[in-house]
Amino acid sequence: MKVLVVGSGGREHAIVNSMARSSRVSKIYCAPGNAGISELAECVDIGVMDFDALTDFALDKSIDLTVVAPDDPLVAGAVDAFEEKGLRVFGPRANAAILEGSKAFSKDLMKKYNIPTAAYENFDNADDALKYLETARLPIVLKADGLALGKGVLICNTLDEARAGVKTIMLDKQFGNAGNRLVIEEFMTGREVSVLSFVDGKTIKPMTSAQDHKRALDGDKGLNTGGMGTFSPSPFYTKEIDEYCMKNIYQPTVDAMAAEGREFKGIIFFGLMLTEDGPKVLEYNARFGDPEAQVVLVRMNNDIIDVMEACIDGKLEDVELDFESNAAVCVVLASEGYPLKYDKGFEIKGLENFRDKDSYFCFHAGTKLKDGKVVTNGGRVLGITATGSDLKEARRNAYEATKWIDFENKYCRSDIGKAIDEA
Ligand code: AMP
Ligand code: GLY
Repeated sequence: MKVLVVGSGGREHAIVNSMARSSRVSKIYCAPGNAGISELAECVDIGVMDFDALTDFALDKSIDLTVVAPDDPLVAGAVDAFEEKGLRVFGPRANAAILEGSKAFSKDLMKKYNIPTAAYENFDNADDALKYLETARLPIVLKADGLALGKGVLICNTLDEARAGVKTIMLDKQFGNAGNRLVIEEFMTGREVSVLSFVDGKTIKPMTSAQDHKRALDGDKGLNTGGMGTFSPSPFYTKEIDEYCMKNIYQPTVDAMAAEGREFKGIIFFGLMLTEDGPKVLEYNARFGDPEAQVVLVRMNNDIIDVMEACIDGKLEDVELDFESNAAVCVVLASEGYPLKYDKGFEIKGLENFRDKDSYFCFHAGTKLKDGKVVTNGGRVLGITATGSDLKEARRNAYEATKWIDFENKYCRSDIGKAIDEA
């Protein structure tokens, strides 16, 4: 069959890599893709928000299955656009992708269906939010309602910081219309875990767990980024926690969406915090995480096409997800200065070191081809990923492999997976 992947980052490279292993796939297209993806797929120069061009392309090439990977097009209705033209597509429709697209919606859903999460209030105007802050307990968390590239969350330690945060989000509109509404929620402490899961509208099958590192600098310092590295599995995510989450969080979320007339098909990514009072939902995403997908998918033995089709057809119950008992670590090689200001266009050397190596993957995030050479083209450039028999070996392998690559202004955190030592 012929497949199309919509997106251009490391997550999409990992998805394409899994598809390339499927015996059912004869041709992969990726829109717009990147230099690494172009080794496995034919990249087509169509933007992820250009639904007319994407669906015309899929019709023209008789694409059998399209996967929409990023949040923006999902929330804006890319899946609906494909379905309207009779095309087969994996991902939630807009009315279900709202689970990620509106934090106010997801908080209200959790409250209504008793799904454990931080206590909160939603606000439509800054005056009410400021008044609420006067009596709120510190630290306190402010969240812009809409999509904000993972940057719309402010953790405020003082009342002044919180007041300034309300101004930043609701009045100065630093995150644009995402800040039209504001969620103010209780600050929680604990370990964070990401659990990605396949969903077919009624059945949910969680994949193996992972943990991200969102801050730019070592020791979880610096600004929030899209993610600087991941490891999988999380040693803190026990079988008991998994069972608790299935009963109290995962299945209730899928059932809640169905009860609201918003049947969810695709990936739900649960951002969890393991608090003293049990696991609670930090956030939902309606897609694979980036770079969570990189460490999870390289450990999955299933044919990804089989699983995705089972989700579309409502037959996920019949699928047994199968993950290797090994571990994986992804270290992001970024451009120095990310997530603020950075230079790009530098030649990347050493990519050939990853050829024909089963347990090492060089997933491209921000790269492009220029005059036959691969050059840096973004803040996050590569996701160097390695497997190992356990987390420590995977981490050693991943860090070793970061040395195989060279480009000007190459930067990575040196403490991805440090938590492994505390397990
Ligand atoms: P989110 O985009 O909602 O996952 O938030 C980004 C990051 O902010 C999370 O990964 C947490 O590290 C942190 N965070 C979000 N909500 C809370 C909360 N209620 N308490 C403590 N930390 C939080
Ligand atoms: N790495 C976090 C995310 O994809 O949202």
